[in-house]
Amino acid sequence: MCGIVGYIGARNVKDVVVGGLAKLEYRGYDSAGIAVIDEGNIQVVKSVGRLANLEDKLASMQIAGQAAIGHTRWATHGKPSDENAHPHQDCSGRFAIVHNGIVENYLSLREELIAAGHQFNSETDTEVVAHLIEELYNGDLFQTMIEVGKRIRGAYALVVLAKDHPDEIIAMRKASPMIIGLGENENFVASDIPAILEYTRDIYVMEDGEMAVLTAAGVECFTMDGEPVHKEVYKVTWDAVSAERGGYPHFMLKEIHEQPKAVRDTLRGRIAEDFSRVQLDELNLDDAFMKAVDRIHIIACGTSWHAGLVGKAVIESYARIPVDVEIASEYRYRRPLFTPNTLVIVISQSGETADTLAALREVKRQGRRVLAITNVVGSSAEREADDVIITWAGPEIAVASTKAYTTQLIALYLLGIKMAHVRGEIGDDKVRELLKGLEDLPQATEQVLDTAPQLERFAQRYVDTMDTFFIGRSLDYSVAMEGALKLKEISYIHAEAYAAGELKHGTLALITEGVPVIALATQPDLYEKTVSNIVEVKARGAFVLGMTWIGNEDLEKTVDEVIYLPKTLPELAPILAVIPLQLLAYYAAVARGNDVDKPRNLAKSVTVE
Ligand code: F6R
Repeated sequence: MCGIVGYIGARNVKDVVVGGLAKLEYRGYDSAGIAVIDEGNIQVVKSVGRLANLEDKLASMQIAGQAAIGHTRWATHGKPSDENAHPHQDCSGRFAIVHNGIVENYLSLREELIAAGHQFNSETDTEVVAHLIEELYNGDLFQTMIEVGKRIRGAYALVVLAKDHPDEIIAMRKASPMIIGLGENENFVASDIPAILEYTRDIYVMEDGEMAVLTAAGVECFTMDGEPVHKEVYKVTWDAVSAERGGYPHFMLKEIHEQPKAVRDTLRGRIAEDFSRVQLDELNLDDAFMKAVDRIHIIACGTSWHAGLVGKAVIESYARIPVDVEIASEYRYRRPLFTPNTLVIVISQSGETADTLAALREVKRQGRRVLAITNVVGSSAEREADDVIITWAGPEIAVASTKAYTTQLIALYLLGIKMAHVRGEIGDDKVRELLKGLEDLPQATEQVLDTAPQLERFAQRYVDTMDTFFIGRSLDYSVAMEGALKLKEISYIHAEAYAAGELKHGTLALITEGVPVIALATQPDLYEKTVSNIVEVKARGAFVLGMTWIGNEDLEKTVDEVIYLPKTLPELAPILAVIPLQLLAYYAAVARGNDVDKPRNLAKSVTVE
């Protein structure tokens, strides 16, 4: 993620840029920074932590100028720190840049630039761009940026200020969002519309491979080869509040809809092009250790714990390693038993959950190896674990976790497949089949989102409902637990998940006329068994919403309504099955008039015990 703002014009440039960054903090909040150009001097101020830290620093400074750029960071390469905060500069301080995205070839560029005498101050991929500009600069900033565009690979939204060109800002875009705001004798550039909506509603949406030169007087757009491009002005009609959420009424809905991208980003670069193997090159765990692992403890809380349950099924069935999935607040006060080669996996979206960290620290104190799956680079879990798999879901703002869960599942699938392959438990053909299945998931998740109107309708049943049940077997049971938690936390409806076969051992007594039951039937080998359990609840008057794969119309004979999921490998179905449950929870909460993004009594990151 990361958020970028640039401004050129007669207003107080610092205030415009910092105000814009405040609107983009949902894109990242690890650090923030600003560069201001005034009569050929570039002044850079930056600070680790939230934007408020930068504002505190700026409060005592007199900063003015004719143009400024700013950045709010979601760390990718390099931990959150003052040094790694943007803007970045070259050795001479003649250029300042902000960047959103990833420069894929930064290591080779860095080596080349170091050999040419450049000195680096940060661990970021971005800093190479500042030095590259310095290296290639020939007095013509525009031409230099065209050359820079030819040398860097990856995804970027880049904005540049140059000492020798105080009256212009250059912006370039490839695969990272960027818009230009058009004003009168002033212009803006930003990652997203909310940053500039206070000043203008006229924008250019930059396309992939385009660049723009902004002066106070106007904006000119070009291809990356320098050919002029004619852009149509787009008029923003949203209000400022919904613009911040990309036009969605709540962050939760936005984040549910971001799942195809989050899944794609988490898979990116981790599957060999010929589908022959998983590439988790970031792991220090070597093959010898993977072969030797004789037990795994997965430790997490809440939704992350639910992801761990799916992880257990995957790792046990592919890699044939016994897995215990433990709630962190329980685990930390037990005396866990370790085998000689136990691997501990902690899962935490935030990487800051107090119970999960306490468990991690206790395990490390006992000399055990810990692998963390987290969404936050620079979080405590990321820093303290021996191995890390980052989920590239981007910042999750809504308290109810959605895209973090699906990307945690992706990380667990990749790890499970890798371990199974290394241990010889699955052959090349199965690896190929699974990896192709994973590769198809972003597209399939997009298709599942089309069920939203059906879920919105069904959710109206929950306006006055007090109790509901989610049932399923095996992987469906794990997803049912996540569905029940989602509904509870934002709709405040009492919801329970049951292993479908367990109902008749007590819970069936709670099923009365009209009680809504969500029945997951995505696993072909258990389908008939699940249908028998659905018949049991139907016979007691339940109103059943079933979920199964496209083409299996058989379920319509048993349930009241069916949600159809695109066909995938049964073991990958949880990623698709959870999405309608997230949507159901969302629409039920909306129907009941609840504060969806900030449910009562709950916080996003539980940093206390
Ligand atoms: C539920 C939810 C929580 C978190 C839990 C752990 O929607 O978000 O249950 O999953 O508090 O948080 P992390 O993953 O940050 O450790």
